[in-house]
Amino acid sequence: LSFKQQITLFLACIFGGLYFLGVFRQRRPGEPPLDKGWIPWLGHILEFRRDTAKFIQRMRQKHGDIFTVQLGGVYVTFLQDHLSFKQFIKESRENIYFTTFSKMILRVFGYESAFNYTSINQEIYRQHLTGHRMHMMTESIVRNLQKLMLHNLGSAAKQKTWTEGELFNYCCNIVFRAGYLTLFGNASSKTEGDEEKANTKDRIESEALLHEFHKYDQLFPDLVYGVLPPSGRKEAFRLKSHFWDALSMKKIKSKDNISGWIWDMYNVRRQRGMSESMLNRLMFVLLFASQSNTRPVSFWLLLYLMKDPIAMEALKKEVDMVLKESGQEVQPGGPPVNVTYEMLMKTPVLDSAVEETLRLVAAPILTRSVLQDMTLKMADGREFFIRKGDRMSVFPYVAIHVDPEIHPDPYTFKYDRFLTPEGTKKTDFYQGGKKVEYYSMPWGYGVSKCPGRFFAINEIKLFVFLMFVYFDFELINSGEKIPQINLTRWGLGAMQPDTDVKFHYRLRH
Ligand code: HEM
Ligand SMILES: *[C@@H]1O[C@H](CO)[C@@H](O)[C@H](O)[C@H]1NC(C)=O
Ligand SMILES: *[C@@H]1O[C@H](CO)[C@@H](O)[C@H](O)[C@H]1NC(C)=O
Ligand SMILES: *[C@@H]1O[C@H](CO)[C@@H](O)[C@H](O)[C@H]1NC(C)=O
Ligand SMILES: *[C@@H]1O[C@H](CO)[C@@H](O)[C@H](O)[C@H]1NC(C)=O
Ligand SMILES: *[C@@H]1O[C@H](CO)[C@@H](O)[C@H](O)[C@H]1NC(C)=O
Repeated sequence: LSFKQQITLFLACIFGGLYFLGVFRQRRPGEPPLDKGWIPWLGHILEFRRDTAKFIQRMRQKHGDIFTVQLGGVYVTFLQDHLSFKQFIKESRENIYFTTFSKMILRVFGYESAFNYTSINQEIYRQHLTGHRMHMMTESIVRNLQKLMLHNLGSAAKQKTWTEGELFNYCCNIVFRAGYLTLFGNASSKTEGDEEKANTKDRIESEALLHEFHKYDQLFPDLVYGVLPPSGRKEAFRLKSHFWDALSMKKIKSKDNISGWIWDMYNVRRQRGMSESMLNRLMFVLLFASQSNTRPVSFWLLLYLMKDPIAMEALKKEVDMVLKESGQEVQPGGPPVNVTYEMLMKTPVLDSAVEETLRLVAAPILTRSVLQDMTLKMADGREFFIRKGDRMSVFPYVAIHVDPEIHPDPYTFKYDRFLTPEGTKKTDFYQGGKKVEYYSMPWGYGVSKCPGRFFAINEIKLFVFLMFVYFDFELINSGEKIPQINLTRWGLGAMQPDTDVKFHYRLRH
């Protein structure tokens, strides 16, 4: 090569590199404001990861309700105008790829499939996670919750002494395990000898599983963003392997009462020839999807209630009334109460408290891939060009959940925020005099909206319902501050607390 050619090649490499690093990208006319950040390629990723909500708030103040930011080599356009969500959701399929269960997350779980299961999944979700079949699971959830909640209270029951615990830990223990047993089945009394032995086995096994789940859950945010050090990655892989084995159909098959949802998700894939090892991975995906968010939501709900005597009283009254109307009462040492789906339909106050908790702590980021250059029409008539290869994201927490116009005093828990003065479900929320269609989006939207939302609400409500039925419970230190949220989880679902909170409970009757 001549000297000149070498120089040219060298410059080409530099420019190629800079191009790759996104240095030359400029905002074109008609595009949303572009904010690349100071660091090539990485852009704003560090600030984004440190506190996503704060970062999005800052960008929103600077640029308005639509803007494009660079995050680790990817350009993401955040649409933060909820009035325009509808247009975005309706945007034609050729333009936007609605990933089902974000690819990024599936990659973390090592699950992939060549066949497109979207419509098959939809049908299975519809069959098993809504309507009649879902209502039928109520009985099973109640039974499992009761077994776990009332276990080992024997001596304390007689003396009616307080049992101390840490609230998040307690909620994980009960809600995770009850959910797991309901969906993945319980030990068979035939195989184990009798029911007592089967229950003991379930308790021990689910506790061990939760222990490992918790470890994986801790690594999860860094795993998703691909920033775990090698030792962490090794540990994550060990944990995944543990779950692939523990949840394999080989092991699960010997259980009774495996939910139809798990069965069908497994069977349709097996029939199409998916390998057992890939099916094991699917099982872990399903465990994680179904169990990662209900625990923290239950925790926050109970905590907010314990901090709010008026809410506590209102809920206690509602639960007592529903139980009384069903003709039951709790007797010391008597039979377990029966809670049916019909009973759970008569709890508007509890519904509102659950919805309010979700508003405050459920903070998913919903991301779509842009498949072709397109024009996004906003509700107010403005139009923006969006480039092929970019992503589009919606972060409802900032755009809706804590918007003080839609939800006044947005950071305060108000158990009756979603109640009308007549005591029914409130769905009218306004901003600048206009009715707001999306006033809370904890489950996402569109085709990938959480299919487990009815099951999740059912489980959380049953847990809280039974807490009121069976226990008095309160914070040990009534002046306890509500803990800070752990900022690493923005965008991944329900937020978790930074520290646990001590509380105690005792049998009411
Ligand atoms: C409070 C609890 C829960 C919250 C806040 C929650 C939230 C979410 C969100 C935000 C998504 C992603 C939506 C998107 O990307 O657009 C999702 C997906 C999903 N959730 Fe939930 N979820 C909860 C409980 C559950 C439960 C109990 C189940 C199962 C029984 C479940 C099953 C799923 C599944 C299977 C998906 C993936 C759907 C697909 O694209 O195929 N979730 N959830
Ligand atoms: C998968 O199928 C669904 C529904 O049939 C469709 O909307 C979606 O575009 C397909 N996805 C891919 C990647 O082909
Ligand atoms: C397993 O769960 C089912 C459904 O809740 C229940 O009917 C059955 O009694 C449970 N089995 C044992 C051994 O507890
Ligand atoms: C916050 O969450 C991360 C990721 O799960 C975890 O590593 C960290 O220990 C948590 N911080 C606190 C104070 O609990
Ligand atoms: C649980 O499984 C057992 C054994 O297969 C069965 O007899 C029972 O009816 C099932 N219970 C429920 C609630 O499905
Ligand atoms: C729940 O139902 C069972 C079976 O019908 C019954 O024996 C039991 O007494 C009921 N529980 C209460 C608290 O009434």
